Amino acid sequence: MVKMEVEIGGITLRNPVVLAAGTSGVIGEIGDAINLRKLGAITTKSITSEPRDGNQPLRIADLPNGMINAIGLANGGIEDFVTNYAPNCKNIDTTIIGSIAGDSIESYVQVAKAMNNIDGIDLVEINVSCPNTSDGLEFGSCPAKLAELLSEIKPTLQSTPMIVKLSAACGDIRPHAEAAISAGASALTLINTIPAMRIDVETKTPLISRGIGGLSGPAIHPITVRVIHEVYRDIAKNANIPIIGTGGVLHWEDAAEFILAGATAIGIGTASFINPAISTKIAKKLSAWVKRHGCRAITELVGQVH
Ligand SMILES: Cc1cc2nc3c(=O)[nH]c(=O)nc-3n(C[C@H](O)[C@H](O)[C@H](O)COP(=O)(O)O)c2cc1C
Repeated sequence: MVKMEVEIGGITLRNPVVLAAGTSGVIGEIGDAINLRKLGAITTKSITSEPRDGNQPLRIADLPNGMINAIGLANGGIEDFVTNYAPNCKNIDTTIIGSIAGDSIESYVQVAKAMNNIDGIDLVEINVSCPNTSDGLEFGSCPAKLAELLSEIKPTLQSTPMIVKLSAACGDIRPHAEAAISAGASALTLINTIPAMRIDVETKTPLISRGIGGLSGPAIHPITVRVIHEVYRDIAKNANIPIIGTGGVLHWEDAAEFILAGATAIGIGTASFINPAISTKIAKKLSAWVKRHGCRAITELVGQVH
């Protein structure tokens, strides 16, 4: 048997496969269709301080190589999360990452404080990379603002490790990664969806009501590989900060590429819409790949691209 456990912020995940934020329900409702025990972790929907309705429909466009979404962080707000979802966290048999979004330092801090007190939330992920709201990229697009935000959030988290989810939409992501690590990030999630647009040529209208949305799925996979590689090589490796590579995984080979590029764990989002069981399948196939390469642990393959 090969060792598939990986560590993120001092928390041991059973294997490197993580369900990405916003793609498996508020908190792992996809568990009705798959066995969450077979996954390394699940990430909640991004939760904000106040309830949000999100954008007007149509909010999702299906494309041959992925999808464009502009959900717009629709969620019931932190009070609803604490009342209706938090009590079940400790019954979910996998690591839970609580995702936090906001439109001001105060609103992020409010949600972080609440998440920190929830029994069963093992890590939090700070989403500063949503392209589908007017404020979703405000902190993620400027390293100085990002550092200020994280330095306010970090003390409220006490012992809960902080992951920071960055966007590839802001040019070179490395200054943002450096800022996040300096401000106390225990891990980085790379990447969120990338702003994109499609137009119906008969109606002459965009495929989604917001016009521009976030592209995900196989279309962004090579971009994700490049970003993981650059951040690992230039920053994360020396800083000993794990990367959760997220963006475009459909097959186990896509996930294996992320590991070779420098990711410690793999986020899966859009692929779950095609086949909810794909994440557990990928976890199994990654294990066979590690064995085939004569390794005793998947961690031996992290960053091993020649
Ligand atoms: C329908 C949908 C909703 C999403 N909601 C969130 C969210 O609430 N918070 C977040 O950080 N990312 C969100 N994402 C981004 C994903 O977590 C992930 O970073 C992105 O889709 C790239 O991975 P993928 O290609 O495997 O889907 C969402 C993506 C989709 C497709």
